[in-house]
Amino acid sequence: MRSRRLALLAAGLGLTLAVSACGANQESPQSNDDQDSGSSSTGEGVPVGVILPETASSARWEGFDKPMLEAALRAEGLDPHIENAQGDVQKFATLADGMINDGVKVLIIASINSELGGTVAQKANAQGIPTIDYDRLNLGGSSDYYVSFDNVKVGELQGQGMADALKDKPDGAQVIEIEGAPTDNNATLFYNGQQNILKPLYDSGKLKLVRSQPIDNWDNQVGGTTFEQIFTSNGSKVDGVVAANDGLAGAVITILKKYQLNGKVPVTGQDATADGLKAILSGDQYMTVFKPIKEEAEATAKLAAALAKGDKAAADKIATDESDDPTGKRKVKSVLLEPFMITKADVKRVIDEGYVKAEEVCTGETQAACTELGIS
Ligand code: BGC
Repeated sequence: MRSRRLALLAAGLGLTLAVSACGANQESPQSNDDQDSGSSSTGEGVPVGVILPETASSARWEGFDKPMLEAALRAEGLDPHIENAQGDVQKFATLADGMINDGVKVLIIASINSELGGTVAQKANAQGIPTIDYDRLNLGGSSDYYVSFDNVKVGELQGQGMADALKDKPDGAQVIEIEGAPTDNNATLFYNGQQNILKPLYDSGKLKLVRSQPIDNWDNQVGGTTFEQIFTSNGSKVDGVVAANDGLAGAVITILKKYQLNGKVPVTGQDATADGLKAILSGDQYMTVFKPIKEEAEATAKLAAALAKGDKAAADKIATDESDDPTGKRKVKSVLLEPFMITKADVKRVIDEGYVKAEEVCTGETQAACTELGIS
């Protein structure tokens, strides 16, 4: 009964996803045929629910998180039920209700926004189901555990990338910042990290901030049009663009191409997606941030296994870091993993670690760079 309901839910959702898949950053690094459907439960092991937020904001969710969470949870003897809400808050809530009613033993939440994630966690917790905030911390939420990366460090790597790329420019090099969703706590942390590096450079006059603009829902297309407006109202001048992830970077690069400025204006990114890495190889993007999501998925699975057994002591041994929730005025036990800067010289690492295939990034104009860097 339980698995039939989940199967029906997955089938219904798959249909919706097939028509709504249309992000600017759609080419997923590990796209597979079941990209559009929820994970199929084998019915073996302890059922654990995972709700992912969307697809269009980044290729990571379907390309990395979904398959890696599925494998990691199974390796812990759990039975994953993974769904993606496709950016639809109503769908997110419905999926959560379904999983709670079906009696999942742990609920893993990567929410569209904090409020929604917090509400879902509260509902689950009220039914005695422990929750883990995954990648995005729900401010004011009730989950006892959080697994992510050091997101301030992610921002610092982006800020450092921009500083490095513009170091030989005369003083006053002009920077536009295209930031993530204001409702995503990560976007705030990325911004804070960037400012740790860039603010002193703005203050000294080495760099000049034209404008910093958050983009609702991390919408890649809106990121591109917003960048174009800021750029043209600045007399079509820009020396560098801080883009908060590879999806936004891709949209910015599309606009830079229109003005024959791609390759001349460094752009930052994040997620080490196939598109991002390809843009780095072609010279259109300066850097990305590689977050080894396999580690994020494995830490989450280990925590989930401990919580499914009701073993809080084991869970506490895994979540030895702490995150600040300023809204809830509390600290949340966390696993915070290390992110890495990837410039052209480091692209090979992401391919060697199996996140992206060489044939996804080495085509046409990037083939020479691949040969030079030994990527095959
Ligand atoms: C994630 C990033 C991702 C962005 C858009 C953030 O919360 O940490 O990896 O690029 O959301 O999906």
